[in-house]
Amino acid sequence: MVKVVVCGAAGGIGQPLSLLLKQSELITHLALYDVVNAPGVAADLSHINTRSTVTGHGKEAMNEALQGAHTVVIPAGVPRKPGMTRDDLFKINAGIIRDLSEGIARNCPTAFILVISNPVNSTVPIVAEVLKQHGAFDPRRVFGISTLDVVRSSRFVYELDSSIDPKSTRVTVIGGHSGVTIVPVLSKIPGQKFTKDQLDLLTHRIQYGGDEVVKAKDGAGSATLSMAYAGARFTLAILEATVAGKTGLVESTYVNLHADEEGTAAFRARTHLEYFAQDVEFGREGVSKILPLPELSAYEQALLDAAVPELKVNINKGTAFITDAS
Ligand code: NAD
Ligand code: LMR
Repeated sequence: MVKVVVCGAAGGIGQPLSLLLKQSELITHLALYDVVNAPGVAADLSHINTRSTVTGHGKEAMNEALQGAHTVVIPAGVPRKPGMTRDDLFKINAGIIRDLSEGIARNCPTAFILVISNPVNSTVPIVAEVLKQHGAFDPRRVFGISTLDVVRSSRFVYELDSSIDPKSTRVTVIGGHSGVTIVPVLSKIPGQKFTKDQLDLLTHRIQYGGDEVVKAKDGAGSATLSMAYAGARFTLAILEATVAGKTGLVESTYVNLHADEEGTAAFRARTHLEYFAQDVEFGREGVSKILPLPELSAYEQALLDAAVPELKVNINKGTAFITDAS
């Protein structure tokens, strides 16, 4: 019995993400939760001829949706409009994430929690602090999904060099998920020797790829389809590792560094960061290992130095939202 819950399932990301998850044979029950239109989306998806059962749960049925979940994916909350930063979404989304985390702590405290809602740099600490209050925090099980940065990196590199395969060329992206906190490690792509101009262009495009979409959608929201693709890729990797027992799966993802006490102790001591996006290897319990930071070029080290102060502010804001209220 593998129940996967999508919270915010009727939204721009939630619908295509649920569609992609409906195709997985690893899921036996796909539960769709949203404050609007979840039963409608569920009825629609339930006609697709795969084995999983699909159920829809409206506003008053959060507990029912979350009960006994193996994995909870969260794209619930408001997206950006032109001129906004991800941090501008904190005011609304922080409360939504807090309430969903309370529900998770009550109904499925051992679930794997995959956070898409922005600002990811702050919403992940919110989830962790709520779970801590319930004695249910396991740092190996809480993830900020930064996979869209990885997907964009592969695509944008391919646009400069069509000899690489964009699907199998995975770029490590470290730091966080917003502007300067997004640090692509382009120096580790085999065979690449980018000029300084190319590096500047690629780095800026990866860091601000989200803005490109927000601007093009012109008030109608932010990335949804590419995010659903990235979210499904990440969710399926988690299921492959935790349900099917597949080993060696690695994705860049934003996690609590205590998920690998020993492996990250030195980095934590140096940066005083509690959360960081880095390549993570998955196992049966979620994070099995946070891989050591790759050796960075001077260019990347400067990007990382610029990312750390902003990350700290974002993390403290999320943490304080819960700890200051208690
Ligand atoms: P959307 O407005 O289209 O959908 C959000 C859905 O969440 C809506 O259906 C809404 O009814 C639902 N919702 C609101 N409050 C809820 C609650 N308390 N419980 C359950 N559902 C609730 O927005 P979207 O485009 O799908 O984006 C969702 C979030 O994902 C935004 O915060 C956006 O910034 C973020 N996002 C993150 C990434 C990433 O890389 N991590 C990429 C794209 C978007
Ligand atoms: C993205 O990177 O596309 C998302 O974080 C959405 C946004 O606000 O840009």
